[in-house]
Amino acid sequence: MEMDKDLKIALKAAREGVKTIKEFQSKKLNIREKGFHDLVTDADIATEKTILGIIKEHFPDDEILAEESENEEVLSDKRTWIVDPIDGTTNFAHQFPVFCVSVALWENKKPKVGVVIEVNRHEEFTAVAGEGAWLNGEKISVSGKTEPRNAFVGTGFPYNDLSLVDPYLKMFRHLMEKLQGMRRPGAATFDLCCVACGRFDGFYEYSLHAWDVAAAALIVQEAGGTVTDWNGESGWLFGQRIIAGNPDIHQYLLKCIEEYIPEKQRKNITH
Ligand code: IPD
Ligand code: CA
Ligand code: CA
Repeated sequence: MEMDKDLKIALKAAREGVKTIKEFQSKKLNIREKGFHDLVTDADIATEKTILGIIKEHFPDDEILAEESENEEVLSDKRTWIVDPIDGTTNFAHQFPVFCVSVALWENKKPKVGVVIEVNRHEEFTAVAGEGAWLNGEKISVSGKTEPRNAFVGTGFPYNDLSLVDPYLKMFRHLMEKLQGMRRPGAATFDLCCVACGRFDGFYEYSLHAWDVAAAALIVQEAGGTVTDWNGESGWLFGQRIIAGNPDIHQYLLKCIEEYIPEKQRKNITH
């Protein structure tokens, strides 16, 4: 079957982005804080330029929402490319080997294509809405684990929004007892892709941006997983709070969030 044209360009842009990142891996990095605990390197800027250059060359009329371009986090009905040039910049800056390029295409406010490439293992996760999800060209699906005691779950700790830390830590303690294991790899796109291919049975985090989830959440959905915000609803793109998992572990994590996080703080920050 011929590859979807949008997927082809998304993949080309992401692969070129990976090449740009690799050029920086042997150089001395220029790292600065663009906000409190929020790093950016010259590799993030250059990689975004590479990716956007390819997208604009092929689709000059499409809209762009990219992290380092500081575009406003809104979507129109137009085709919009949502790009995180390096997801896991803190890992990258410390040479900790989990960081990804993420490229998504949304149309009519729905995800159409998602590509995430983990740079060090060169794992290419892809999805097209309604057609499925793949890892390096092989179809993937979420795990079939139903029991929390057998579940392996990813999460993330926000760098600069500590508003929910107290209830979050109480829930974390509960999950430490109930789950088989928990991990914090440091790149939300990778966490979600690990759910999609069944390495993780679930994932939850708060304080995420649209570019952290736009591609990888589609990959989870196309792999048969469930993705919601912390109200169990569909506002995860701009809601800053996400739960993903196979349907059983997603449901379990949602129940835990309902138990531990006060209702007011579960609310979306939607546009
Ligand atoms: C970050 C990563 C991290 C998550 C942060 C994100 P960045 O993205 O996804 O896992 O915990 O909230 O900001 O800044 O490295 O692109
Ligand atoms: Ca990110
Ligand atoms: Ca980033």
